[in-house]
Amino acid sequence: MCGIVAYVGERTAYPILMNGLQRLEYRGYDSAGIALFNGKTMIYKCRGKIKDLQKITKGKDISGSTGMGHTRWATHGEPNDVNAHPHSSMKGKFHVIHNGIIENYAHLKQELEKRGYLFASETDTEVLANLIENIYLEQKVDAELAVRLALSKVVGAYGLVIACEDEPGRLIAARRGSPLVIGVGDNEYFLASDAMPIVEYTDRVIYMNDDEVAVLSTEGLDVKNLYNDARTPEIETIRLSIDNINKGKFEHYMHKEIHEQPDSVTDTFRGRIAMDQSKIFLGGILDVMPQLLGAQRIVMVACGTSWHAALAGEYLFEEYARIPVEVEYASEFRYRNPIINKDDLVIAISQSGETADTLAAVRMVKNSGATILGICNVAGSSLSRETTAGVYTHAGIEIGVASTKAFTSQMTALTMMAFLAGYKRNKLSNEEYRALIAGLIQIPDMIREILNEEAAIKQIASVYKEAAGALYLGRGILFPVALEGALKLKEISYIHAEGYPAAEMKHGPIALIDEALPVFVLAIRDKLYEKMISNIQEVKARKGKVIAIATKGDAEIRRHADHLIEIPACHEALSPLLAVVPFQLLAYHIAVMRGCEVDQPRNLAKSVTVE
Ligand code: G6P
Repeated sequence: MCGIVAYVGERTAYPILMNGLQRLEYRGYDSAGIALFNGKTMIYKCRGKIKDLQKITKGKDISGSTGMGHTRWATHGEPNDVNAHPHSSMKGKFHVIHNGIIENYAHLKQELEKRGYLFASETDTEVLANLIENIYLEQKVDAELAVRLALSKVVGAYGLVIACEDEPGRLIAARRGSPLVIGVGDNEYFLASDAMPIVEYTDRVIYMNDDEVAVLSTEGLDVKNLYNDARTPEIETIRLSIDNINKGKFEHYMHKEIHEQPDSVTDTFRGRIAMDQSKIFLGGILDVMPQLLGAQRIVMVACGTSWHAALAGEYLFEEYARIPVEVEYASEFRYRNPIINKDDLVIAISQSGETADTLAAVRMVKNSGATILGICNVAGSSLSRETTAGVYTHAGIEIGVASTKAFTSQMTALTMMAFLAGYKRNKLSNEEYRALIAGLIQIPDMIREILNEEAAIKQIASVYKEAAGALYLGRGILFPVALEGALKLKEISYIHAEGYPAAEMKHGPIALIDEALPVFVLAIRDKLYEKMISNIQEVKARKGKVIAIATKGDAEIRRHADHLIEIPACHEALSPLLAVVPFQLLAYHIAVMRGCEVDQPRNLAKSVTVE
């Protein structure tokens, strides 16, 4: 949510900032801007995307070897040229870019107005720029101290880059709640919301911690906390390569990531299953196995697609490990007064590891005595650093805003955890455990089989591309997949869609059914198959169009469905890993046919770092 990139060194900053912003555009894309410093200060910003920013800088002075850039996802103030970042203080001493929300900005603004400050934009960021300037001028302190004093007055979340006119060649960064990574080069530093803009220049990075302030210049790097205590930052080596962040032969990241799933699922279980397929080994949770096996209850917290994975995880842990599970929207959980005690196990699931509500939920339960695990895709993310233990999904970087491979990797991680816990708790026999492991290993090839049917799925997409709405029905462990299918469709094609437990349809959504409504039904040969056939009949009786996801070779279902998408037969526990793939492809092709911007759907952002 908002992308930040900055550079200080000897190279020309402009291309570094522009490339970096393009890589970060998935975080927000309603407006963008850069500031370049070369003796004088040049600021270019506009509503729109990075390509629009490039247009307005054509023919302009873009020199300078210090600079900062921002791609915005609006919180305070509509997306327009004025509200775009960077924001300058009224007297022009400071220039600021910001990711996050200053919650007490209205109060701070009033105080500044009393001191004669006028505001050009509606943003909270401009308030911060003026607050820093006011302290700097009134208290006659250096820029760094002015920043620290200003931040001590701020309530909220921020990832910040600040430049002071009087201190050329220096940038000040600060973090609370919104991620910032420093790339360490030779006499140069890079700064960004994640490592993507940095990887082609250096693999040495420092993940800033909350309440740290860093000063970057060609003379070096100085990291302190808000109270001026020096910090010794830990330099880590990242393994991200440029190839990971290119689209390759695909037109969209989402499409590429859908097709990566045979590999990303394999990467999630690679090295975690014994060669003879007899056991699962999860090194990241080894130390907390007693707490997992003895948990009175598991509470899962997550948002968006990760929440859907958690819902399916609930079925797995209850069915195979016989541990009661509750699944919570992190944003609701954190504002209730939930009862969590030391025998509970909290599992936070997040692709990015930076979702503000999920992190807040984790922080909230820290003192409860409960063990907290993370399931996360991004190494070094806040979640991975704030949980006691966890499982990385190793799905590789996910750039498409609509999450796809992260879901199947999260499901793989949850499946392994549930099977392992079931076996260790004697709820699964050795034979059952081995059979489940053997089934999991076959999943990547089965996903490949489904991907090979893409042309047929695309054909079905073309039939329903103009639908005004859609219904997704599932039962049991496939109900969360129905929710996920509906979410994929609505977020990228803007067709309203609802996911429902199939039997619940009779209590409302059935009223929507007519000959124009596509109903996507998960009707695989599982223990609820017959019930699902009855639900399909109910849809057909009202002239709804049924698109069934069914088990390969199922002759009966052909008689009921208008369209059939077959998936290979697998163990029911593993079915979400297959059943979701046709839904991802359907949503993708419908969105492309409707001319939607698949990788950058309107109003959304990949990483929601504000609550
Ligand atoms: C945003 C993204 C979704 C994602 C959700 C949770 O809404 O657009 O794709 O599922 O955040 O993100 P997380 O990184 O915590 O899994």
